[in-house]
Amino acid sequence: MTTTPIVAPIPRGLTAIGATGAAFLPALAVAELPPGAMRRVTFDDLDVLLAHTSNGIAAIDDRCPHMSAPLSIGRLDGCIVDCPLHSGQFDLASGEPTRMPTTGGLDADGFYHPVWAPEGREPKPDPPGLKAEARRFTRVRRLRYYPVRITGDDIEVAVPRA
Ligand code: FES
Repeated sequence: MTTTPIVAPIPRGLTAIGATGAAFLPALAVAELPPGAMRRVTFDDLDVLLAHTSNGIAAIDDRCPHMSAPLSIGRLDGCIVDCPLHSGQFDLASGEPTRMPTTGGLDADGFYHPVWAPEGREPKPDPPGLKAEARRFTRVRRLRYYPVRITGDDIEVAVPRA
């Protein structure tokens, strides 16, 4: 017998703009998202990441809140998703970044974090100029969530439509 997965609660204040009150649309069969899995589902030009975290199923944009890389091809461990591009880490239970990208930059509260490198490697700061400035001023936002519900064998997501 299979059990119905739970839906992860949305952290306070982090529902995606336009998603409150939007119609629920079929996204994926429950069987296609076992615990620990992530999948991209697309509605028109909106790519949504479905993640079966240790807290339940969550739906966010499939765009890293740093420089928009697809988180769906990153790694999920419990509630923590790792971005494949600059090693940023995000907690799907809280919506908060838990590790800044290697490029550094501003966190959600506007505090600057310097460039860093994984253990055993030297950080690669940009030569001064516009690129370095762009990275320094890039703000890593908190995640934004779409409401999820389970209906029978399907996962449904409420996404704003044009
Ligand atoms: S795009 Fe994800 S950490 Fe940079």
